[in-house]
Amino acid sequence: MKQDKPVVVMVGLGYIGLPTAALVASRGLHVKGVDVNPGVVETINQGKIHIVEPDLAGLVKRMVEEGYLEATTEMPEGDVFVVAVPTPSRGEEHVPDLSYVESAVRNVAPKLRRGNLVIIESTSPVGTTEKMHALLNELRPDLEGDFHMAYCPERVLPGRVLYELQHNDRAIGGIDEESTRRAIDFYRHFVKAELYPTNARTAEMVKLVENASRDVQIAFANELSLISDKAGINVWELIDLANKHPRVNILRPGTGVGGHCIAIDPWFIVHDYSDEARLIRTAREINNYKTLWAAEKVKNAALEFEKEHGRKPLIAAMGLAFKPDIDDLRESPALALARMLKAQGLDVVAVEPNLEGDRYEEFQLVTAGEALDKADIIAFLVAHTPFKGMKVPESKKVLDFVNAVTYPAK
Ligand SMILES: NC(=O)c1ccc[n+]([C@@H]2O[C@H](COP(=O)([O-])OP(=O)(O)OC[C@H]3O[C@@H](n4cnc5c(N)ncnc54)[C@H](O)[C@@H]3O)[C@@H](O)[C@H]2O)c1
Repeated sequence: MKQDKPVVVMVGLGYIGLPTAALVASRGLHVKGVDVNPGVVETINQGKIHIVEPDLAGLVKRMVEEGYLEATTEMPEGDVFVVAVPTPSRGEEHVPDLSYVESAVRNVAPKLRRGNLVIIESTSPVGTTEKMHALLNELRPDLEGDFHMAYCPERVLPGRVLYELQHNDRAIGGIDEESTRRAIDFYRHFVKAELYPTNARTAEMVKLVENASRDVQIAFANELSLISDKAGINVWELIDLANKHPRVNILRPGTGVGGHCIAIDPWFIVHDYSDEARLIRTAREINNYKTLWAAEKVKNAALEFEKEHGRKPLIAAMGLAFKPDIDDLRESPALALARMLKAQGLDVVAVEPNLEGDRYEEFQLVTAGEALDKADIIAFLVAHTPFKGMKVPESKKVLDFVNAVTYPAK
């Protein structure tokens, strides 16, 4: 491998792959991006982008125009191959689906040359890099193992990807020390933060554990909200006061846990270590249960309203996104909750300040003002900033699962 300016092949040009490809290109390295989706390839080659990420459009345009970045559907040759394809989990059992990673690695195999480096960035179950290494050895016995392989997890926050790619520390684990060293050399081209060497299995687990840790901590807060409800205690006041302890930091409860990382990655651990990962599994279950519990609360309020007023109430779902102040609906517990209410035959309108009404059809989107005016039950599902401290008329029934209007912190 030419260590000074390796030719980089980025496999998978999505939310992770495209910003990484553009950033690497901006360091004067030639990057060939590969994607199975011809539409994605065509868009990028026109200097445009297919995802939403601040500052990315300008960078991609410049890199394509300057000839440092080009996209293709055919796997090219190169020095460093970086795999950033999806790794979803499937079905009730949440079985990790490695088919995209395997297919990407199978496509790399015929192009692999002696001394090349293959890096997997896709969130993966422990042992994936070793498995893919074995697969490449099987497909290319002629190379006699003379290539390098490493795993390097991604921890960027959508909306800040270009900044965080450069400024977040990273764990880098090769299948041997030489692989780790070469992978670190590669990331040095664009990462300004610390690069920590480890082995591939540990690096894979680091990523899964980061998200499982958040999940477990949120589950603790969600469990407290269930206990407090039964005990007649305001959970927000409880947490606020407990957090006055200098070594306690309880997170905030909500309607569950969503998104494409925290709600999914812990299952990769549970699936492979089911006897041991009892807390991690339970946390997943608690966070999922919290959505059902909250839906039940709204349903009961609706039944009471109907008994009292002789008509069905109109329910306002305040927020649909999976966390505050974004428009991302992936695995969103708020959206799941609103769907459950609708499936029960309840009348639901939604307030989602981060979505444009004409681009979203599943729920009728109304403004917060219209919701407060027309709805009978106001259910706060996401702690969006515009909801904070909102004045809800006394005549309305309020269910506040995210402390939008309940308790001002001391
Ligand atoms: N998006 C994030 O914030 C984030 C954060 C941390 C980790 N990750 C992980 O990074 C990985 C990629 O995530 P993403 O959000 O970029 O996904 P994405 O869906 O945005 O992009 C993946 C791209 O890979 C392409 N692809 C699929 N199979 C391919 C193949 N065999 N060859 C070439 N291209 C192929 C798809 O067409 C798509 O364009 C996942 O494992 C994810 O869990 C994502």
